[in-house]
Amino acid sequence: MSFTIASRLADLPRPATIAMAARARELKVQGADVISLALGQPDFPSPPEAIEAAYAAAKAGDTGYPPIPGQKPLIDAIIRKLRRDNALDVTSDRIMVANGGKQVIFNALMASLEVGDEVIVPAPYWVSYPLITRMLGGVPVEIRCREENGFRPDPEAIREAITPRTKWLVLNFPNNPTGAILERQDLEAIADVLREAPHVLVMSDEIYE
Ligand SMILES: Cc1ncc(COP(=O)(O)O)c(C=O)c1O
Repeated sequence: MSFTIASRLADLPRPATIAMAARARELKVQGADVISLALGQPDFPSPPEAIEAAYAAAKAGDTGYPPIPGQKPLIDAIIRKLRRDNALDVTSDRIMVANGGKQVIFNALMASLEVGDEVIVPAPYWVSYPLITRMLGGVPVEIRCREENGFRPDPEAIREAITPRTKWLVLNFPNNPTGAILERQDLEAIADVLREAPHVLVMSDEIYE
């Protein structure tokens, strides 16, 4: 029996980050002195206390399925963190733990995008936003962020990009790859635009907080 990759995957390009990482590995094997900035691999190991706690929990038999939204002590710790660091009072029914950022972004887009729905992605961007959007039949709409503007998105460009088909605006700050951050007044200007377009959802990817 022959196996073919479904066209929704086969028609997508290989992510540039994966290709760059593979090329860097190849060159390293050939003896080249390479500093690869392709994958966001942390340059520190997992904290020993986290490794010990995971090991101890597994040894104590905590190896079954957790509740779907996450373990209660973890959710409570997230609530404390949001209160302490972000001045946000969030109740547990608003929190969901997932196995990483990519999974939760994929799930959110899969659960919400109809074919032809548009996702506004400020560029430069982490490569997966437009790829996941296209995989699910959505249409990525890029808006350019200019270097002279600190790579922050221009609220007017966001306004112009919004159409009746816009489903999401993706914000990623601190940004991969530019490192840009948004100040309060930047967010307020974007919020003013979004108040006029209540059909647009905001995905704020703050993975590098
Ligand atoms: C901006 C951004 N969001 C999400 C992710 C995905 O993170 P995870 O490895 O937790 O799936 C990455 C990883 O590179 C990223 O750069």
